[in-house]
Amino acid sequence: MLDQIPAHRSLAAHQSFILDCKLQWTRQLFPALRQRYQASADAADRTPECREDVGTLLAQDVDAQFFGWFERHLQRMKYSGLEGLAEYYARHREPIRQALSADLPEGLLHLEAAFRHPDYYTSIDIHQHPGGVWSDEIAGFVYERGAQSTAPMLKNSLSLWQRFKVQALQRVQGPVGRVVDLGCGFGGSSRPWYLEHPDTELIGIDLSEPCLRVAARRAADAGVAAGRVQFRQADAMATGLPAATCDIVTSTMMLHEMPPSHIRGVLAEAHRLLKPGGLAIHLDFLLHDDPFKEYIHYGHSQRNNEPFMVPLNEMDMAGAHRDAGLVDLEILPFEEFDGALSPSMDAWRFPWTMIIARKPA
Ligand SMILES: C[S@@+](CC[C@H](N)C(=O)[O-])C[C@H]1O[C@@H](n2cnc3c(N)ncnc32)[C@H](O)[C@@H]1O
Repeated sequence: MLDQIPAHRSLAAHQSFILDCKLQWTRQLFPALRQRYQASADAADRTPECREDVGTLLAQDVDAQFFGWFERHLQRMKYSGLEGLAEYYARHREPIRQALSADLPEGLLHLEAAFRHPDYYTSIDIHQHPGGVWSDEIAGFVYERGAQSTAPMLKNSLSLWQRFKVQALQRVQGPVGRVVDLGCGFGGSSRPWYLEHPDTELIGIDLSEPCLRVAARRAADAGVAAGRVQFRQADAMATGLPAATCDIVTSTMMLHEMPPSHIRGVLAEAHRLLKPGGLAIHLDFLLHDDPFKEYIHYGHSQRNNEPFMVPLNEMDMAGAHRDAGLVDLEILPFEEFDGALSPSMDAWRFPWTMIIARKPA
């Protein structure tokens, strides 16, 4: 149903221009900027030790300014303006509205009347998406389309979610009866679970009604069996689900969208939801080993309206997990496509990182 919503030629041209520019930015501009940075450091005869040093070194560098300016405005063009996704689909909202309001199998979607979002969530247009991913009825559909060019080197983001699911399965102990996907968004991260594990129950949690509606529609269109999949509107730190009933609590790209106080709440909720020995596994962005990349990552946080990337990166993860009662913490790089972690990889990529822990058995 949702796939039948037309994208006219002008929209397709505009969006593919943005995607191509983003690829150029990732593959050409980033390594070129790194070379200029290295040359400046060599000329100044000093090795920057932190991102602030990198910022000082590049403060007057026109290429560094262009790199940031280009990122900011490509993202703005993706959503805003006549062929921006948010404005385009707002003009063609009727078929989307119809697809999203079509009947769903009983129990697939649970929405809360008069749901109150946390203030941090409504106070910023995340990703420069006008109105965020929660305020317009078609925002989930728009976000799903927009996500196709978020990480331009990922030709097929389903494979990222599949790869992450494999990592979870390699670490879980025993059969997987129930998985909770916190911050499931439009359901992309939930999909490999319900498509490939018919004996597993999947519960997706999100704050955004428009995203949950897309997630439920996609699951219904995939023909999921009634009762095996649910999408529920709730805060990830207070899901309302029964305690000690889950084998895996997971999230993908959610932690960096919330303040540290909320992240601590999410870890405590994961501990509450998990059965003894159950697995908490989150995929997000952490970066500590390279001041130049950290300078780019912190700049991205600002330019993409994602302010909590920075406090996430600076959080005491070990302490937060200890306080939540979770043990065996591992923080490991995640290879989102073959070769992503190779030393020869010189394009810009997000610092994908798995944060893995367990409830004591
Ligand atoms: C970047 S999206 C990722 C969505 C999905 N996991 C994926 O991989 O495509 C982050 C999601 O987290 C949700 N979110 C943010 N804060 C949340 C909270 N406190 N509780 C539940 N969901 C939250 C947002 O609504 C959004 O859908």
